[in-house]
Amino acid sequence: MDKGTFNGFRRYHNSCHVCHGPDGMGGSFAPNLTESLKALDYYKFTEIVVNGKQSAGATGDRVMPSFGTDPNVMDNLDDIYRYLKARSDDKLGRGRPERMPG
Ligand code: HEC
Repeated sequence: MDKGTFNGFRRYHNSCHVCHGPDGMGGSFAPNLTESLKALDYYKFTEIVVNGKQSAGATGDRVMPSFGTDPNVMDNLDDIYRYLKARSDDKLGRGRPERMPG
C-alpha cells in the first residue's frame, strides 16, 4: 500500500462511501465500484466522476452527482482511482489498509 492508495482510501470514504458503500462494495443506492472498474478504464471513470451520470431505473432515477467542481475529489482523483482499481483487481482487501511509512 503506497501513500497514494492510502490517500485514495481516505478520500473515497469521505466523498463516495455514502452511496457506493464501504470499500467500494456498492449499496442500495449505487453500483459496486469494484465490479464497475473491471469494465471502466481511467478515462471513462474520470468522465463519470467529473460529469455525473443518471439513469432511469425500475425503482426511480439513479443519480451519480457531478464532482467536477469539488476540489476534495478532483485534486485526489488519481488516488481514488488507484485505490478502487486495487480493490477491483483483488490486490487490496476490505477494510482500512496498512499505512506505509513515508
Ligand atoms: C449521492 C450518491 C453518490 C455519491 C456520493 C457518489 N456516487 Fe457514484 N454513482 C451513484 C449512482 C446512483 C450511480 C449509478 C448511476 C447510473 O446508473 O446511471 C453511480 C455511478 C458511478 C460510476 C459508474 C459505475 C458504472 O458501473 O457505470 C462511477 C465510476 C462512480 N459512480 C464513481 C463515484 C466516485 C469515485 C464517487 C466519489 C468521488 C462517487 N461515485 C460518489 C451515486 C453516487
